[in-house]
Amino acid sequence: MNALLRRSVIVTGGSRGLGEAICRRLAGDGYSVAVFDLESTSVTGERLAAEIGGTFLGGDVSNPRDAEAAVNSVVDRWGSLDALVNNAGVTGAHDPVGDFDVGEWHNCVDVNLNGTFYFLKYALAQMGSERQQPNGGGAVVNMSSLAGFRGMKNLSPYVASKFAIRGLTKAAAVEYAHKNIRVNCVAPTFVKVGKMDQLSDEMLEHLSSQNALPGVVQPRDVAGAVSFLLSDDARYITGHCLPIDAGALSRVANAREE
Ligand SMILES: NC(=O)c1ccc[n+]([C@@H]2O[C@H](COP(=O)([O-])OP(=O)(O)OC[C@H]3O[C@@H](n4cnc5c(N)ncnc54)[C@H](O)[C@@H]3O)[C@@H](O)[C@H]2O)c1
Repeated sequence: MNALLRRSVIVTGGSRGLGEAICRRLAGDGYSVAVFDLESTSVTGERLAAEIGGTFLGGDVSNPRDAEAAVNSVVDRWGSLDALVNNAGVTGAHDPVGDFDVGEWHNCVDVNLNGTFYFLKYALAQMGSERQQPNGGGAVVNMSSLAGFRGMKNLSPYVASKFAIRGLTKAAAVEYAHKNIRVNCVAPTFVKVGKMDQLSDEMLEHLSSQNALPGVVQPRDVAGAVSFLLSDDARYITGHCLPIDAGALSRVANAREE
């Protein structure tokens, strides 16, 4: 990609897991990548940023001031913000709704849903600003999940926030389409990444048994879908949620929750 045409992107939760794979893929696509993650990940985040020629920005997605500062920092550094991947997320506590701790509920929703909103808010305002509009547009990918399509036991704030991210995606897509800004989301099934990487083959097989396709989805499969949705190949795709589900959503569920 011509240096003058180089696009900038923020990837939240970019220091490890799916976020790291997305950062690496987008850097390979030619983006200038801002790896945004908690300060506590700064060692790995800075190492990754140095490796891919990007920058690390420490902060918490559930703090709107950190989202605003991240967007401003990218614009100061690279002149514009062209893309955003709202990847940061936490699974939260595991309890049935009736036993769910109110504070734990808020923690999960604050990161997954409110964090997505804060970054969208400041990124869309920047992408739609007069300063950026002459060259036109921008693209966003939010992170939903298979849990954004169906109930999963003991994960109510996770499920609720991943459903809500699909709704927020559609609302933002219709609001910003006239500015040539596209907003989509992806919804992975279980992915072999991070802690999941240490699981036994038997456990991996069990977790993947909801899928129709054989094998286990890898981080690069999600990164490839994000790359496509941000790219000009997807220039008429907006407001959608692309499941990377290995066919799981097309299957008739064959297990009854105990
Ligand atoms: N791994 C899977 O199987 C899977 C499946 C579907 C969806 N997802 C979604 O993909 C995203 C990434 O998942 P992962 O498995 O790579 O998780 P992970 O725990 O390996 O990585 C998440 C990253 O987000 C960062 N993060 C967490 N809270 C943050 C906050 N408040 N502010 C800034 N950064 C924060 C973490 O520090 C970490 O670097 C999440 O939104 C998750 O819900 C994952």
